[in-house]
Amino acid sequence: MFALRASVLAAFALAAAACEDHLHSRDTAHAHTHEHVHKREYPQVPLTPPYRPLVWSDFNVIHTTDTHGWLLGHQKASFPEPDYSGDLGDFASFVTHMKQIALEKDVDLLLVDSGDLHDGTGLSDGYPAGSVDGHETNTFLERLPYDLMTVGNHELYEYADAYDTYINLAPHLNGRYLASNVNITILNEDGEAVSLPMGNRSVKFTTRKGRNIMSLGVIYDFTGNSANTTVQFASDMVKEQWFADAIADEPDLFLLVGHMPVSYDHWPDVFDAIRVVHPLTPILIFGGHTHIRDCRQYDGRSMALESGRYMETIGADLDAAKDNSDNITFTRRYLDQNRVTYEYHTQQSNATFDTEAGQNITQGLLDLAIAYDLDYLYGTAPQDYSLSGAPYPSNDSILTLFIAEAAPVALAINNSRASIPNIMITNSGSQRFDLFKGPFTKNDQLTSSPFLDQFLYIPNLNFSIANQVLPALNQAGADERRRKRDAFEREMRRSDDIRAVYNEWLREMNERAGMEKRAESAGNLTLGYVTQDYCPGAGDDTMHIAIPYYDTPDFIGSNAPNVSDDTPIDLVFVDFIEDQLLGILNGLQSAQTYTESDVLPYSDILSNEILGLYAQAEWN
Ligand SMILES: *[C@@H]1O[C@H](CO)[C@@H](O)[C@H](O)[C@H]1NC(C)=O
Ligand SMILES: *[C@@H]1O[C@H](CO)[C@@H](O)[C@H](O)[C@H]1NC(C)=O
Ligand SMILES: *[C@@H]1O[C@H](CO)[C@@H](O)[C@H](O)[C@H]1NC(C)=O
Ligand SMILES: *[C@@H]1O[C@H](CO)[C@@H](O)[C@H](O)[C@H]1NC(C)=O
Ligand SMILES: *[C@@H]1O[C@H](CO)[C@@H](O)[C@H](O)[C@H]1NC(C)=O
Ligand SMILES: *[C@@H]1O[C@H](CO)[C@@H](O)[C@H](O)[C@H]1NC(C)=O
Ligand SMILES: *[C@@H]1O[C@H](CO)[C@@H](O)[C@H](O)[C@H]1NC(C)=O
Ligand SMILES: *[C@@H]1O[C@H](CO)[C@@H](O)[C@H](O)[C@H]1NC(C)=O
Ligand SMILES: *[C@@H]1O[C@H](CO)[C@@H](O)[C@H](O)[C@H]1NC(C)=O
Ligand SMILES: *[C@@H]1O[C@H](CO)[C@@H](O)[C@H](O)[C@H]1NC(C)=O
Ligand SMILES: *[C@@H]1O[C@H](CO)[C@@H](O)[C@H](O)[C@H]1NC(C)=O
Ligand SMILES: [Zn+2]
Ligand SMILES: [Zn+2]
Repeated sequence: MFALRASVLAAFALAAAACEDHLHSRDTAHAHTHEHVHKREYPQVPLTPPYRPLVWSDFNVIHTTDTHGWLLGHQKASFPEPDYSGDLGDFASFVTHMKQIALEKDVDLLLVDSGDLHDGTGLSDGYPAGSVDGHETNTFLERLPYDLMTVGNHELYEYADAYDTYINLAPHLNGRYLASNVNITILNEDGEAVSLPMGNRSVKFTTRKGRNIMSLGVIYDFTGNSANTTVQFASDMVKEQWFADAIADEPDLFLLVGHMPVSYDHWPDVFDAIRVVHPLTPILIFGGHTHIRDCRQYDGRSMALESGRYMETIGADLDAAKDNSDNITFTRRYLDQNRVTYEYHTQQSNATFDTEAGQNITQGLLDLAIAYDLDYLYGTAPQDYSLSGAPYPSNDSILTLFIAEAAPVALAINNSRASIPNIMITNSGSQRFDLFKGPFTKNDQLTSSPFLDQFLYIPNLNFSIANQVLPALNQAGADERRRKRDAFEREMRRSDDIRAVYNEWLREMNERAGMEKRAESAGNLTLGYVTQDYCPGAGDDTMHIAIPYYDTPDFIGSNAPNVSDDTPIDLVFVDFIEDQLLGILNGLQSAQTYTESDVLPYSDILSNEILGLYAQAEWN
């Protein structure tokens, strides 16, 4: 008989900041590489502290997922950014204090991660030619005492990333980098190609308190992976002999990590396969991928948690008697990732909180930002531009800024077609993150607008026809989107499907808040997540009012030129939407059937350069 209580913690989101006094020009940037840099400024705005202490139990887990390179935290001043203003060094100090508390309470505390370590900020993605995305940021994650890590889809788009993860990160976990359904093909000593699990398929280990744990690391049914990596669907994985062998003995607890959403996905396949053999053994699941805070209980003796994005932590609490059939009481908490949260829960002051290892991590990340020239300044943004917190079109929308303001300016540079009237179209998924008032740097560009789309055009379209293309694209709606997803592997990487789930989450939150409640509480609360999930009790660690949310169309366009209906104009669009756009255009008119041979390159400037060029032209 053994009693078990578990608690996990949560929410973590980080952003690379321009350290204001270190903004420098391209000319001087490289000279700074080894210079000492002061710790980034702490948020200059007061943060709301958590409203109640964590519930400690016998078995506790801290979870991170979908950190995507945000290891310097969110350093912009507009809410909700300051809520997530801790950095990986702060998190490391927090973990150290929490481990000490666990020792004093004589309970278990584990640290786990569910994958997607890069593709998000310049720290991971601003690497120089010859390096690999996430290679340097992974070396900082390796300094934390993770008990389990697992592979995310972003580790699998490029073979080089997968191989780097396999060869460098995985060994640091000493058998605890789990890849139950992901293989990588490598050349063995004899030069033969062999397919091997990308990490360990399963692991059994014993905690400090003597609990026997059995763990797996499972990714969702991902199909966009690179050649020479293999993803097996979870429903097939559970039929494998190794799986049966791995789960045969009953542990005290199954601790499953995986890059798979806890709602509407395939965790139940894995869960059910275990339940067939072990009807009552506690099962704790830590998922990811859709970037939301979510929690499910597949039965009364299990809990599945998802900890948001950009390093949102999680907290679960479980109270179990192994040899009975009672439901287990779990608690979970989603922590805002900042020093106020960390100091509150570890009962440290600003002066006592930092550990040397934590400060070293912060310093190392700041040095990396300098080595990558991430503070390179394009211009100073006059205001915030939001992805979903402002209506489209509007002057506060980054979508409007990008396509109606910046693209027409940037694409006119060195362009012989510049004097010909045009309409420019892209997809709203082409922008990834808000753009904030103040310095707009290389890091901000990599964060907000990372995709490498080429601009194409069809010349001499009647304005009246060209002007119908954008609304027709948007009308094509959900069916079109689904078709597009099947047709374009790249679509997966852009995570438009993830964005749909994440946006739906924000939309619900916004609706629940309602304008009245928002006005009422505005005096005391700051903007942030207001989570309602499927587990008992309140999950959020800090109270907020919901972030405003506005739906945006799938496609966005520049302002139509003021010309007559039969004026020939250029229809400019990104290569990413070419197939769809041609289909729509051919549905709108029958004078000509347009094909790829009617499409010409419009500019050498790629979509990820647009905002920087615009900032250089207009924000200086
Ligand atoms: C993990 O996998 C490696 C490579 O297959 C193997 O050598 C190692 O023993 C495994 N570790 C554990 C703990 O199972
Ligand atoms: C993964 O690698 C193992 C070990 O080489 C092999 O037995 C298995 O068939 C591979 N699985 C897939 C799906 O390629
Ligand atoms: C996959 O690996 C094999 C063996 O190393 C190699 O010959 C092949 O070119 C690789 N395929 C791709 C698409 O990289
Ligand atoms: C135990 O949990 C299950 C699933 O969450 C629930 O349906 C059931 O009512 C619970 N039983 C008790 C006695 O609380
Ligand atoms: C917290 O401590 C740091 C140094 O560790 C200092 O730079 C900062 O100003 C302090 N912040 C507050 C709010 O006291
Ligand atoms: C921190 O960095 C310094 C200088 O690089 C090093 O001497 C020290 O051992 C590091 N301390 C920790 C705890 O990592
Ligand atoms: C948006 O900005 C333009 C140009 O600065 C201005 O003319 C227009 O009135 C603004 N629109 C709104 C709705 O504020
Ligand atoms: C435009 O052309 C000039 C002269 O060739 C060149 O220096 C500049 O880099 C070009 N600008 C862009 C954005 O390509
Ligand atoms: C803010 O909180 C105080 C204390 O709880 C309360 O008295 C006051 O009504 C609140 N103000 C608003 C605007 O909600
Ligand atoms: C559009 O052009 C016409 C003719 O040149 C002009 O009279 C009209 O004011 C313009 N409209 C706008 C909104 O600029
Ligand atoms: C463009 O407009 C002209 C004049 O109205 C018409 O003759 C021509 O067929 C149109 N072209 C297309 C491709 O619709
Ligand atoms: Zn992710
Ligand atoms: Zn993912």
